[in-house]
Amino acid sequence: MQNISKLKGRYLVEPEDLTLEEMESLFNLAENIEKDDAYLRESCRGKLLATLFFEPSTRTRLSFEAAMLRLGGSCLGFAEPGSSSASKGESLADTIRMAACYADAIVMRNPKEGAALLASRYSSVPVINAGDGGHHHPTQTLTDLLTIRRLLGKIGNLTVGFCGDLKFGRTVHSLAKALSRYVNIKMIFISPAELTLPDYIKSILQKHKIEYYEKENLDDSIQELDVLYMTRVQRERFFNEEDYIRLKDTYVLNSGRMSQAKEKMIVLHPLPRVNEISVEVDSDPRAAYFTQAKYGMYVRMALLAAILGAGQC
Ligand code: CP
Repeated sequence: MQNISKLKGRYLVEPEDLTLEEMESLFNLAENIEKDDAYLRESCRGKLLATLFFEPSTRTRLSFEAAMLRLGGSCLGFAEPGSSSASKGESLADTIRMAACYADAIVMRNPKEGAALLASRYSSVPVINAGDGGHHHPTQTLTDLLTIRRLLGKIGNLTVGFCGDLKFGRTVHSLAKALSRYVNIKMIFISPAELTLPDYIKSILQKHKIEYYEKENLDDSIQELDVLYMTRVQRERFFNEEDYIRLKDTYVLNSGRMSQAKEKMIVLHPLPRVNEISVEVDSDPRAAYFTQAKYGMYVRMALLAAILGAGQC
């Protein structure tokens, strides 16, 4: 619990803001919460969380709000910027200053890369990045890592395949960076040529001496994967609708493809999915994406309790 107490008052803009030890402590806490519904239940009583979503969300916003309510705290905020004074031209800095006057912590999603870092500079209370454009999504990474740990029993000595939109996919960028700190992780990046991983992420992998490959064909690699991380081609990140339509159905994971995969491989997806995983895969025991979404709530409970310095934390 010592590492968790160090998290009180901390900001989370990108995965590297947490050490591996701090993440392990959060995963232990999340697993305790999963096992015991009453664990930390009233630990955030009297605390307020602002959820400021300048972009749509189902899982991240609802799981943060569910997490705060389950800890006994309360939430305020907005689910789309049109209902805030941002629509009248208020700057992000001023919106953040205001939310910091009212709440004990701020969770923000924004379509602009770097918005979370900017918010962290203007906020007197902790800011948690819930996704900044195509840049990072650190609490999705905590969710993904906890899911791998829970379902495979370890984070290390694994071959992880990332498939789909690797150019704009912030969950891919954050997870690849985070996995590069673990032992013996091999990564295979499967995407069309137009949607390959950005060079700055590849530089980080090279710096950590990670064995990684870039491929265009999922069928060539699926047999060797321990984790398959599927992603959606994101219409909202394209400037050109024609390019989106051309690329959107490049990869479809179906029962035929699953029959080529290891018996113990797990399929993750940050969700929402569109067509990239057929619904027939949902009943395959290796389909872990809905369980993953539930772990997202537990790890966000752990994170909020730690950042707000709640209870036994
Ligand atoms: N995984 C994720 O970020 O989902 P939402 O966009 O629904 O929050």
